[in-house]
Amino acid sequence: MKPDLLLVGGTTPRTMAALENRFTVHKAVDVADWDAFLAEKGESILAVSTNGHDGLKPEIMAKLPNLKVISCFGVGYDAIDTKAAAERGIIVTHTPNVLNNDVANTAILLMLAVSRRVVRDDAYVRAGKWSGFGAAPLTTSIEGKKVGILGLGRIGETIARKLEAGFGCRISYHSRNPKDVSWHYCHDLVEMARDVDYLVVITPGGAATNKLVNRQVIEALGPEGTLINVARGTVVDEKEMVDALVEGRLGAAGLDVFENEPNVPEALFPLENVVLLPHVGSGTVETRRAMGDLTVENLVRFFDEGTVTTPVPECAHLVAKG
Ligand code: NAP
Ligand code: 8YV
Repeated sequence: MKPDLLLVGGTTPRTMAALENRFTVHKAVDVADWDAFLAEKGESILAVSTNGHDGLKPEIMAKLPNLKVISCFGVGYDAIDTKAAAERGIIVTHTPNVLNNDVANTAILLMLAVSRRVVRDDAYVRAGKWSGFGAAPLTTSIEGKKVGILGLGRIGETIARKLEAGFGCRISYHSRNPKDVSWHYCHDLVEMARDVDYLVVITPGGAATNKLVNRQVIEALGPEGTLINVARGTVVDEKEMVDALVEGRLGAAGLDVFENEPNVPEALFPLENVVLLPHVGSGTVETRRAMGDLTVENLVRFFDEGTVTTPVPECAHLVAKG
């Protein structure tokens, strides 16, 4: 008999087919009455497949007494209470590395789009202003600029390597611990923000990084500085950022993520020094396919072999025992 699996959020047809091949899939989107669903199916659900945005609500996890594994489509898992899961012996998995390049490319795309005013100039052409008013105003180059990476992990390092090799950028970084790399480590985030032209945010979300980019950091980056956020909206104090952009105290911003997605502060809409994306850092066909395959691989290996490929660090000890 196929194990029962709860699918939270949407998925691609390929991943759906792979899940249905091995599991009896119950879709959360089809559940009208959660109390009734959990009373009927709660005990039989052994696995959850979810994503970084939807995660798994603690009150639902609490009512799945035989849950063994949660597979997250996404590397960030701040929407899942991994501590509670680990305490119950539930293994949580995620999708590291397979998305490094596309998320890094999105960060660089935002740097270029903001600095070269791609959205403004595209609108200039479409509105017939090129023929009407002549050449568009000059923009700013990213070539050779100083870039501070906040969170030099898998994706942060990929961004740094690409910016250095492709654009001659001078890289510094801030994280809690220095890494074994040649780039300059800044112990103090405010000092780094003061020194760089671009601050690229790529830490995990969650309580430990909540509003790490606060008013002081934003002021240090200043009217000539550009903030790029491809991490989580919660890492930046959104209200402070919006106020600073509106008042010209922050130069520009390229944003893929927001505090309360899919709601984006409307004060940003008229600003031409801001480029906004709907959380699509990993959103290519190729990368989403790789993420989906890894999401399923973790589930299948758990039931076939009693192990998983990519546990989150908080659950790694459960796999080792396993
Ligand atoms: P990772 O390899 O775990 O790297 C995270 C880095 O952040 C580490 O270098 C870590 O270093 C640093 N860090 C953690 N907590 C910190 C803190 N409180 N202060 C300063 N630095 C801190 O993760 P990753 O694979 O690169 O992914 C990073 C995040 O990107 C994900 O968690 C997710 O939220 C986001 N993401 C977004 C998209 C998108 O579509 N926009 C796609 C993928 C990922 P230390 O431990 O030394 O501090
Ligand atoms: C996904 C992400 O789009 O991996 C992450 O942490 O933010 C993105 O790749 C997200 O997990 C899907 O909701």
